Amino acid sequence: MNSTTVPNTIETTQADFLPLHGTDYVEFYVGNAKQAAHFYKTAFGFQSLAYAGPETGMMDKVSYVIRQNKLTFVLTTPLRIDNPIADHIYKHGDGVKVIALKVDDAKSAYEETTKRGGKSYMQPEVLKDINGEVVLSGIHTYGETVHLFVERKNYTGLFMPGFREWKSNYNPVSTGLLYVDHCVGNVGWNQMNPWVKFYEDVMGFRNILSFDDNDISTEYSALMSKVMSNGNGYVKFPINEPAEGKKKSQVEEYFDFYNGEGVQHVAIATADIVATVTELQKRGIEFLNIPDSYYETVLDRVGKIDEDLEPLQKLGVLIDRDDEGYLLQIFSKPLEDRPTLFFEIIQRKGAQSFGKGNFKALFEALEREQDARGNL
Ligand code: FE2
Repeated sequence: MNSTTVPNTIETTQADFLPLHGTDYVEFYVGNAKQAAHFYKTAFGFQSLAYAGPETGMMDKVSYVIRQNKLTFVLTTPLRIDNPIADHIYKHGDGVKVIALKVDDAKSAYEETTKRGGKSYMQPEVLKDINGEVVLSGIHTYGETVHLFVERKNYTGLFMPGFREWKSNYNPVSTGLLYVDHCVGNVGWNQMNPWVKFYEDVMGFRNILSFDDNDISTEYSALMSKVMSNGNGYVKFPINEPAEGKKKSQVEEYFDFYNGEGVQHVAIATADIVATVTELQKRGIEFLNIPDSYYETVLDRVGKIDEDLEPLQKLGVLIDRDDEGYLLQIFSKPLEDRPTLFFEIIQRKGAQSFGKGNFKALFEALEREQDARGNL
């Protein structure tokens, strides 16, 4: 057994220097935010929440904020050239720029992380309107991705100052998506351990699970992965690195098209994966195909589950187990033309971490897609 597990909660006498209450929002830089917002509303069941743009005094970009339960996405487009967001999109395509984290004290979060070596992205800034104030600060992480710390305890408005309500007559029914379960980063050769150390040292996270290239490999390619978690387990960041194989790994394909390190997938929680995925498929979202052979042996590996196997097999839902319970998960195909960002839908039934078997099944499914694109 190559994977190693440690308890998911930090038992320490020392106070957590970066208490996090989960993911506040995920911001995507996209080529056309208006259309992207429509896509996420239609396909995933988000509702319109807020808008900022020239009409609200933001002259160089527009942002649409959409929400479903505790899941908030911000979709941002630059309006002109000579804009770092335009450069970001030119280089990476549409992708995740900001993983924003909920904190009680954004100033303290900034001070604690930068004094431990975090590179400043945004010094603490207080944004005010009639609904109170939001404090933002931020640091860089892998690639051009950043973490913002969002303090909104003194704010009663919809999203944050600078945004106005976005009312829409088009309000598709929810698909049952609840919140961000985890966000996975792809990092370069020999960069997994430095980024593990970054999350340990700068953000006080712990490595709760590790997979090496023996765990996650096929005949042709391999990757390594380490899962980082904050103290209360609300924020989990697995970090992937390619490993040597006979052919190009999926992480390298990502680098070729994203032009560097970045977010590989965002995993979103549901309380009923069969209902959620059935609805998403109906709305046109495509998921990776899992061979029937996976389902012949899966219950031998994971033991008894509450669900019938047949609907899971029909949808391609994977099943895995850790020490605390099991989980159900499924992976979408890339959400855009570049083979970069995709989503995972996950339902946890006791498991707080991840299993090893699904990594391999996911890897093989991704490799089949990669091969079909001629990039293996
Ligand atoms: Fe995942």
